[in-house]
Amino acid sequence: MKVIVCKDYAEVSKEAYKVMKEVMTSKEEVVLGLATGSTPIGLYQEMAKDYKAGNVSYKNTKTFNLDEYVGIDRNHPESYYTFMNTNLFEHIDIDTNNTILPYGDTAKDCADYEASMSACSIDLQVLGIGGNAHIGFNEPGTSFDSLTHIVDLQEATIKDNARFFDNDMSKVPTQAISMGIATIMKSKKVILIASGANKADAVYGMVKGEITEVVPASILQNHADVILVVDEAAASKL
Ligand code: PGA
Repeated sequence: MKVIVCKDYAEVSKEAYKVMKEVMTSKEEVVLGLATGSTPIGLYQEMAKDYKAGNVSYKNTKTFNLDEYVGIDRNHPESYYTFMNTNLFEHIDIDTNNTILPYGDTAKDCADYEASMSACSIDLQVLGIGGNAHIGFNEPGTSFDSLTHIVDLQEATIKDNARFFDNDMSKVPTQAISMGIATIMKSKKVILIASGANKADAVYGMVKGEITEVVPASILQNHADVILVVDEAAASKL
């Protein structure tokens, strides 16, 4: 695992974008795995900026997102579908037919999403990390063998995400559809970005802890090509 420690969030976003640009310019048709949450927003802004400068095109790019809430409409302001359009897709030249997010709550929805990803192969998967070390919505205890599945969100995650729902935990969906850990591990390359002291324990567990399903991100120690980009606060326990 390559670890890059940056002084602050702005630098994290710039370093993460360097990795993204290298992959984007390495071949004609890139497949990206994308994440939502506060952390990747800076990276997405760097992507949009460099696209506007004419340096990179997403015309031939296909994207798969990690996860989506169950039980909220796609056009809900806090759906991940809306998040991706607002924070990235509207600002680059990607064909929205090629921006794919999981959706639904049945075993068939999960199998269909998995099949759509298996038809290609993700060149670069962007990940954030939860304070509880979740990746995607794979909460502690999720099997390392899991494929796309329906997840019950843990209270800690509902609490973390209440900030997007008027700080009202009762408004936060309680389930999500998420790529599984085995799905994420199939990506050719992974970049995980983390910022802030509230991620320090999770980052420690991911890099130096025991590889255990209790710490979902720890599985990344077994992936051949992972880059971790963190600020000093998130790296403070390494
Ligand atoms: P955050 O979420 O970027 O909003 O901190 C990360 C995650 O839960 O994966």
